[in-house]
Amino acid sequence: MIKLLLLPGDGIGPEVMEESKRVLGWYSKNRQFAYESESDLIGGTAYEKTGRSDPDETIEKAKAADAVLFGAVGGPQWDNLPFEKKPERGLLRLRKDMGLFANLRPALCFDALKDASTLKPEIVAGLDILIVRELTGGVYFGEPKETTTLPDGQKRAVDTQVYTTSEIERIARVAFELARVRSKRVASAEKSNVMVTGVLWRQVVTKVHKEEFPDVELTHILADNAAMQLVRNPKQFDVMVTDNLFGDVLSDQAAQLTGSIGMLPSASLGAKIGGRQAALYEPIHGSAPDIAGKGLANPIAGLLSFAMCLRYSFGRIEDANLLEKAVEQVLAEGYRTGDIMQPGMNKVGTAGMTDAILNALDKLS
Ligand code: IPM
Ligand code: MG
Repeated sequence: MIKLLLLPGDGIGPEVMEESKRVLGWYSKNRQFAYESESDLIGGTAYEKTGRSDPDETIEKAKAADAVLFGAVGGPQWDNLPFEKKPERGLLRLRKDMGLFANLRPALCFDALKDASTLKPEIVAGLDILIVRELTGGVYFGEPKETTTLPDGQKRAVDTQVYTTSEIERIARVAFELARVRSKRVASAEKSNVMVTGVLWRQVVTKVHKEEFPDVELTHILADNAAMQLVRNPKQFDVMVTDNLFGDVLSDQAAQLTGSIGMLPSASLGAKIGGRQAALYEPIHGSAPDIAGKGLANPIAGLLSFAMCLRYSFGRIEDANLLEKAVEQVLAEGYRTGDIMQPGMNKVGTAGMTDAILNALDKLS
C-alpha cells in the first residue's frame, strides 16, 4: 500500500492540505488509489511544539514515505528567530536529507485565466513552460555560510555558490529527459559572464547535451536576460533549467505570468534508486499569513501538486490528467477564489473551490 506523509506546516498550509485530503479520498473511493497517510509537524508549527522547525522524527518519516505532500512554512511571528530555527529550515533540510535535487515547476496559463494575468493576454495565453530548478546545491547550501565580526567591529556575511560536475550533469539530464516528452527544447540559464559556477554549468550542460541528448534543442541564456525574456515573450521557452537561486527567482516570476502564484504546483524529486524515488510535492505559493485561517486560500496549487504526485511517483497518468482536467473545467465554469477573481465570475472560498472540483471529477470520470 502507498504510504503518504502529509506535512501541512504553517499559514494556509493546513487549510489547503484539508482540501487535498478530500481529493485523496475521492481517488481512493473512485479510482482504486489505495493509500495510507500520516500527518506530522514541520516549520513554525513544529518549532512551537518541539523547539525545532525540522524535527528528526518528521525527516525520518519523510525518508520512509513513498511521497510527501507538503503545505507551506513560514510566518511573521517567526521572523526574528535565529537563522537555524527559522521555519524555512524545515523545508531546506527535507530537500537536502531526502536528496531532492530536481525541482519541477510548471507554469501553465489556463485559458480561462488569460485575462487574470498582469501581462497582456496575448503574451500569456497558451503558456506552458517548465522550470527545472536545481534544489540541493548552489548558494543555498554552499559552505562557508557564516557571519563573522571583523577587527574593526563591522560584520561580514558570506554565502557560497558552489557546483560540481555531477550535480550539474544530473539536473541537466532531468531537464533533457522532460524536454523529450514535451517540445524538445531546453534553455539553460546561468551567469557564465560573471560566475565561474556559471562557466562550469554551461560547459557541463553542453557536454551532456552533445553526448546524450543531441535530438533536443539547447540554448544558453544569461539569467538576467532570461528574467527579461520571461516577461517579454515567455512562450519562446519550453523547459528552462537553472541553478537553485536563479530557479527560485525565475520560478516566482514565471508563476505570476499564469495569473496567480496560487495556481502553481511543484514536484521535488530525488535520484531513482532501485525503483524508488524520494519525492515531495508542494504548492509554490507559500504560507500567505495575511489570509491564513480565513477559508480564502486557493487550493488549486495544492491539488495540482497531488496531480504531479499521481504522475511522477505513481505513474497514474490518466488520474493526473483527470484532476488537471477537472481544474480546467471549474475555471472555465467561472469558479474563482479571491486571488484570481474577475468581474462577473463566481467567487468561492477554499472549500467551495474544492466542492466544484470534486463535482467536476464526478462528472468527468
Ligand atoms: C521556494 C521558497 C523557498 C526557497 C523558501 C521557503 C525557503 O521560496 O520553494 O521557492 O527559497 O527555496
Ligand atoms: Mg521561492
